[in-house]
Amino acid sequence: MNRMLTAVAALLSLSIAPALAQNYPTKSVTMIVPFAAGGPTDIIARIVNEHMSRVIGQQIIVENVAGAGGTTGIARAAAATPDGYTIMMGHMGTHGAAPALYPNLKYNPATDFAPIGLAAGTPILIVARKTLPAKDLKEFIAWAKAEGEKANHAYAGVGSVSHITGVLLNSVLGTKPTMIPYTGTGPALNDMISGQVDYMTDQIVNVVAQVRGGNIKAYAIALPERSPALPDVPTTKELGLDYQVSAWNAIFAPKGTPPAVVAKLADALDKALDDQKTKDRLLELGGVIPDKAGRTPEALQKLVESELARWTPVLKAAMAAGKK
Ligand code: MLT
Repeated sequence: MNRMLTAVAALLSLSIAPALAQNYPTKSVTMIVPFAAGGPTDIIARIVNEHMSRVIGQQIIVENVAGAGGTTGIARAAAATPDGYTIMMGHMGTHGAAPALYPNLKYNPATDFAPIGLAAGTPILIVARKTLPAKDLKEFIAWAKAEGEKANHAYAGVGSVSHITGVLLNSVLGTKPTMIPYTGTGPALNDMISGQVDYMTDQIVNVVAQVRGGNIKAYAIALPERSPALPDVPTTKELGLDYQVSAWNAIFAPKGTPPAVVAKLADALDKALDDQKTKDRLLELGGVIPDKAGRTPEALQKLVESELARWTPVLKAAMAAGKK
């Protein structure tokens, strides 16, 4: 009898799914952002959601679920009902580096998600409180080496972008600061503006306004070319530092989300990234808009797989260097 009921239920859902997807969405959609409000991942989410909401005809509402470098929020989203009403903004940390740092991670970035698409690239800046006694990168490196563990290095939890890019910087510099955790680089930036923490490596969209306003210092951007959003900030390449890294943020749904729903959300993201107002806001903050080919669910799946392969050995080496 039970087997019969299960078979009927499966048949019913199979027959209902296309209709559900066709009418999707019939109510607002929740996007889990796994870091504190006001930080880079939250900023990008709120910018793309505005136009995506218009395209799908329902509000995409951000819910901030911070903790454990973003893995808490992503684990919750991965376990949500795969009906298209819960999606998430993940990034290079949550879907690239986390497995190397969390042996008991509650999700597999390569298999537990339905990728929707890349939302934005986010170059990394080395930034510091404006009162830090170093006027340029050269003096900053000398300061960091002299300070040793007296230096306070802010980050958004193990496995976050600010953590993995920070560990990388410290291993390149051979420095061992005291790492100060936050629930996101939004709150870390507030403490940096008030001089309570010394430096961090963060995504440009979070810090660009404060750099322009002179409220924090930017020593370098970890790109081969300067960012048009901060033309006065030199590149690490110009300054002879072997440190180049850029981050990304992307939208995912839980595995099992109907393909037609995934296609609707991917189309809405694509339209948002073509929308002039959305583009202008991302570019103004130094974000990098993915090209058409780089925005697809398939391209994101490939990116996740290549990042998993890239970060594991890099982090293992950097963490080992940090222990010496
Ligand atoms: C945030 O939104 O706070 C960041 O993405 C955190 C990080 O990964 O550094």
